[in-house]
Amino acid sequence: MNEVTDSKRIPVLIDCDPGHDDAVALILAFGSQRLDVLGVSTVAGNSTGLNTYRNARKILSFIGADVEVAKGAEKPILRPLVIAPNVHGESGLDGPMLPEPEPKRPPRAAIDLITDTLLTFPGKVTLVPTGPLTNIAIALLARPQIKDKIDRIVLMGGAALEGNWTPAAEFNIYVDPEAARIVFESGVPITMIGLDVTHKALIYPDEVEALRKSGRVGRVVAELMDFYSIFYRQQGFKGNPIHDAVAVAAVFEPDIVTTRYLHVDIETSGEFTVGRTVVDFSGVTGKSPNCHVALGLDRERFIKLIFDAVNTLEKKVADR
Ligand code: BDR
Ligand code: CA
Repeated sequence: MNEVTDSKRIPVLIDCDPGHDDAVALILAFGSQRLDVLGVSTVAGNSTGLNTYRNARKILSFIGADVEVAKGAEKPILRPLVIAPNVHGESGLDGPMLPEPEPKRPPRAAIDLITDTLLTFPGKVTLVPTGPLTNIAIALLARPQIKDKIDRIVLMGGAALEGNWTPAAEFNIYVDPEAARIVFESGVPITMIGLDVTHKALIYPDEVEALRKSGRVGRVVAELMDFYSIFYRQQGFKGNPIHDAVAVAAVFEPDIVTTRYLHVDIETSGEFTVGRTVVDFSGVTGKSPNCHVALGLDRERFIKLIFDAVNTLEKKVADR
C-alpha cells in the first residue's frame, strides 16, 4: 500500500471502550496510514472507565502510537453502568499479555480533549465513537459550537434489525440511550455502523491463524480473537465480528459499506425496547433523515484492510 502523505490523511478523534474489537479498530486506525488521529478518548462501556483507559494505553503503546489518550465518563448520563465481562473478560481486554504502559501524568478529561481539539484544529474533524456515546453527548451539550467543526460522526452502534444486548438493542446504544439520543438529535451528520453490517464483519479462524504467523502485532490480534471467540462461538457465530473496526474503515473507505439515508430515533423509555435505534425505512414519521444507516459490507475488502494495517505495524514494532 502506498503511504498517504500527512496532508491527505483524514483528521479524526477516536472515542472508544477497549474492548477487543476497539483494540483492532485502533490497530486499523494507526496501521492504515490513512487517518490523522488527533487524539483518543476512552469511555466506560465494555469495562469500567479505569480499565478502558488502561486498555487503550496498553494497545497504543504496544503499536508505538504517539497520541494523547484522555479519560472520559465513568458512567452513563442517567443510568448505572452496564459492562460486558462475558464478552471482553474482567479486564475488558482479556487474552494477550500486554505490558503496562508507562505511568503518565493525570490524563486530560475526554471532554477537554474532544472540545479543545475541535475548536483549535484548522479544519473539520471526523469523530469515530466505538463505545457508548456518553463523552460525545456531554461534549455537544457543554460546547455546542463544536458542531460546526465536526465533519461527521461515524459511529459503531445500533441496528436496523436485530439487537445483541437485548432483542431490541445493540450494546453501545443500550448502555447510554440518553447520550445516543442527544447525539442523533444534534444535527451533526451521522453514519451508523450497526449490527446490520458488523455481524457481517467476521474474521474466520483460518484468517486468525494467518495473522498469528505474521509477527508480534498479528500474534496479539490473534490472541485477542482467541478470547473474544469464546463468546461468539457460544452465540453460534462462525467467526468473530470485529464491530468497531468497520467504523474506522468506513471513514477512509466509505464505499466499503452501502448506506441508506433515513431518520433514526433512539428509544429511551420502552419496556422491552430501551436502546433501540428505530429506523424509519418507509418515511412514516415524516421526519427528515438524520443518519446514513449502513446495511451492506464488502467483508473481503474489510479483512484485507486489517491484514494490511497489521503488516504495516509489524515493521514499525520490529524496528523498535
Ligand atoms: C459493541 O459493543 C462492544 O461489545 C463492542 O466493543 C462494540 O463496540 C458491539 O455491540
Ligand atoms: Ca466498543
